[in-house]
Amino acid sequence: MKGIILAGGKGTRLYPITKVVSKQLLQIYDKPLIYYPLSTLMLAGIKDILIICAPESIEQYKSLLGDGKDIGLNLQYKVQEKPNGLAEAFIIGEDFIKKDNVCLILGDNFFYGHGFSKYLQEGANLKHGAMILGCKVKDPTQFGVIEVDNNNNVISIEEKPAQPKSNLAVPGLYFFDNKVIEIAKKIKPSKRGELEIVSVIEEYMKQKQLKANIVGRGLAWLDTGTPQGLKNASDFVQIIQNAQGFYIACLEEIAYNMNFINYEQLKKLGELLKQSDYGQYILKLEKEND
Ligand code: DAU
Repeated sequence: MKGIILAGGKGTRLYPITKVVSKQLLQIYDKPLIYYPLSTLMLAGIKDILIICAPESIEQYKSLLGDGKDIGLNLQYKVQEKPNGLAEAFIIGEDFIKKDNVCLILGDNFFYGHGFSKYLQEGANLKHGAMILGCKVKDPTQFGVIEVDNNNNVISIEEKPAQPKSNLAVPGLYFFDNKVIEIAKKIKPSKRGELEIVSVIEEYMKQKQLKANIVGRGLAWLDTGTPQGLKNASDFVQIIQNAQGFYIACLEEIAYNMNFINYEQLKKLGELLKQSDYGQYILKLEKEND
């Protein structure tokens, strides 16, 4: 399975913070925001990852993450000229996806929680159709919203409904089979002029090829779309890391635990960062694999 991180957009809701810096490069406690969705894809076992960003920020993403080889990844980059909608990712990424299935994660989506890897593995093992998550939220009007029947079959999906049919929001993590490319090419822009991800999901729903996993309260899915959201996510990371001693989204640690790199490679990466607490954390990690 291939992975795509969509890290474009203008971030206008965060102006002036994002006037010259891409939103997904902003700080969440001790790492850039994009580390978090990237770590999610890595935990799903996905190594081939395309980062889609706005033209003015591509060089910054490349200098931050490079080709990914040092952490066992194959990272590629493409530009989205304008924020034409999330579903454009599959059109921009067609040559990268080729014949594979694909997981799309939005660059501003933060997930953390017990049992989350189970959903990632299920998604990564998808053979046909699509898999999405449904998360209970207090105010669903800002999200894609699904309505499900007694068997958790999705019976409707709407983008930012004024009168939501449920409080189940769809987070920005989606698993699709290869048909998604053709579906994305066929859908029409919405009233706000975007190729909506919900239109793609709706097509899978109509074809009865959509699976929604309704996740329990153990999963933290945090919104980073407002200054308060950014701060809350930062506080969350700080609190968990300080209480547990485990880092959230330490890419080098995940690469090691997933067997993408060996212990010697891990230690070399720690050496390069040893001036920071992040680097010291890597250097203190003990040998687990083999
Ligand atoms: O966060 C989950 C929600 O994300 C879903 O529930 C919605 O169904 C989905 O439409 C999306 O809603 P948002 O209003 O949060 O989307 P937003 O326009 O803020 O874009 C989300 C991320 O994707 C953001 O980091 C910018 C990036 N983006 C967005 C668009 C429209 C792009 O890279 N290109 C784009 O064309």
